[in-house]
Amino acid sequence: MDERIIATDAQAADDWQYSLRPRRLSEYIGQDKAKQNLSVFVKAALTRREALDHVLLYGPPGLGKTTLANIIANELNVNFRPTSGPAIERAGDLAAILTNLQPRDVLFIDEIHRLSRQIEEILYSAMEDFALDIIIGKGPSARSIRLDIAPFTLIGATTKAGALSPPLRDRFGVISRLEYYSTDALIEIITRAAQILKIPIEAGGAQEIARRSRGTPRIANRLLKRVRDFAQVEGSATITDDIADRALLALEVDRAGLDHTDRRMLDAMIKKFRGGPVGLETIAASISETRETIEDIYEPYLLQLGFIMRTPRGRVVTELGWRHMGIAYPKSDAPTLFDFDD
Ligand code: ADE
Repeated sequence: MDERIIATDAQAADDWQYSLRPRRLSEYIGQDKAKQNLSVFVKAALTRREALDHVLLYGPPGLGKTTLANIIANELNVNFRPTSGPAIERAGDLAAILTNLQPRDVLFIDEIHRLSRQIEEILYSAMEDFALDIIIGKGPSARSIRLDIAPFTLIGATTKAGALSPPLRDRFGVISRLEYYSTDALIEIITRAAQILKIPIEAGGAQEIARRSRGTPRIANRLLKRVRDFAQVEGSATITDDIADRALLALEVDRAGLDHTDRRMLDAMIKKFRGGPVGLETIAASISETRETIEDIYEPYLLQLGFIMRTPRGRVVTELGWRHMGIAYPKSDAPTLFDFDD
C-alpha cells in the first residue's frame, strides 16, 4: 500500500509520536467509556494485589489500543511486554515469553486475531490456569509436563473482533470497544501535542485539523506535523484555520478528511455506476485496488461519514456522498442498470 497521509497504520515516520503518547489514564483524552471502566478494574485489581483480568481491546486502527495497554501497565506498576500475533510463530516463542513474565505483568499481543490455532491453544491454559502444557519427546515416548507461570494480564488488541475464535474471545474478562474520536476530543489531542512539540496553534487551526483527521489521533498528529511545515515555509509563526485549510488542501485531504483515493472511489461509483448498488469486486476492479483494501481501508470511514451504505445488492453512494463530490443527486429512484451482486 502507498503511504497515504491519512493512512491509519503506523508508519516509520511516526516514531516521533512516542513522545506524545500519554502515560497515565488521566492524560488519555477521549474513549471515556473504556477509560472509566478500565480505571475501576485497575483500582480493584490493585487493592486485591491480583493480576488484572485479561482485556481485549478492539476497534479501528490508530485509535490508541497500544497506548491504552501501555497505560494500563503503568497504572498497575508492572512491566509492559509487547508482542504481536504474526511475531509469535512457534510454540517455543510463546513459551519463552510466558515463562519470563513477572507476577501481574501485562503481556500485550497486538493483532491477536493473527495467532495460529496451535499458539491459541497454548494460550488457553496460560490464560485460565497460569500454566503451560509442554510436550517433551516424540512418538510413543512423548509425555506432557505442566509448567506454572506467573499470574499475568493478557491484553489483546484487534481490529477484527469477529476474526477471533470464540474460545479465545471467551477467555477475556474485559472486552472494550474503542470508538472513533469526536472532533472535540481530537481538538484536545492536537492542542496537547502542539504544546509538547512547541507548535503555536490557534483554536481554529486545531479545529480544522481535527475535522479532517478521520476520528483518529494518529492521523491528527501526523497532519499537525505536516501543517506545521506549511506554516513554517510561509513564514507564519502560528497555525491558523486559514493555513491549516490551505495546507490540507495542498496535501489533498479534503474538508471531510477524504484523500485522493477515497474521492476516486466515490467518483467511480457515481460516474460509472450511477451511485450503485455496485458490488465490492466491481468497485475494486474499477479503481485497480483489491477487494480487501477497499473493505478494510477505504470503506469504514466512508460508511462512518454516511457517504456510502451497504445493501444486500452492493454498495450505494448516499445523497450526502453525491453532494460531497459536488455532483447533483439524481431524483429518480428508478432502478439502475448496474445492480451487481457481491
Ligand atoms: N495522543 C494520541 N492519542 C491520544 C489520546 N487518546 N490522548 C492524549 N494524547 C493522545
